[in-house]
Amino acid sequence: MIVTLDGPAGAGKSTIARKLADRLGFAFLDTGAMYRAVTLAALRNRGPWDDPDALADLARECRIELDRSHVRLNDEDVSAAIRTNEVNTHIHYLADNPAVRERMVELQRAVAAGQNTVTEGRDQGTIAFPNAECKVFLTASPEERAKRRVLELQSRGEQISVEEVLAQQNDRDHRDSTRAVGRLEPASDAIQVSTDGMSADEVVERLVTIVSEKTKQTNG
Ligand code: DC
Repeated sequence: MIVTLDGPAGAGKSTIARKLADRLGFAFLDTGAMYRAVTLAALRNRGPWDDPDALADLARECRIELDRSHVRLNDEDVSAAIRTNEVNTHIHYLADNPAVRERMVELQRAVAAGQNTVTEGRDQGTIAFPNAECKVFLTASPEERAKRRVLELQSRGEQISVEEVLAQQNDRDHRDSTRAVGRLEPASDAIQVSTDGMSADEVVERLVTIVSEKTKQTNG
């Protein structure tokens, strides 16, 4: 069974998807980490930012491996290095590139093949796994999402104001929801869940209920 969890940055997707996968005993796929890893590779390569074909080649050459808590880029553990603000501000060069997205979707399907998976991203229910049995779209208000992002960045030692994160987040939301391929949008058969004012555990409980209802429907 595939459970897709899509939604904007800061809606709590990563934490919730991880906890949900643990609860269900499913594998967990953080697709944002894949885009982050290729962005890190491009930063180290200094782009070239104005050459989409070169960026696509670079993405094809990257060997990305994910397990529950680590991301490896060409055998190097980059789990912390992909979470910087510099990666956040350059990721659109890769995420807006259709050839890069095609490669990432290919990898996502290969990783999920043959195993029960909770997969988390922007286009998992729409593009990567259109036939997924259970699709959820998580949302939260922009302010709540920005506050969560600040706390996350602070916990990694980066000092940044809520206002600055909010401005960057608006920019990313706009890019995420208007890109030509793989844009952020709920699949027509996705269940929308707002996480405002809910703890991660409360959201997970709600999702466990949704998944078990879907499982019953699927099994007839
Ligand atoms: O979920 P995240 O913040 O780690 O994602 C980082 C970026 O990657 C985000 O700006 C959008 C992009 N992304 C994407 O375009 N498609 C996905 N399936 C996952 C992430």
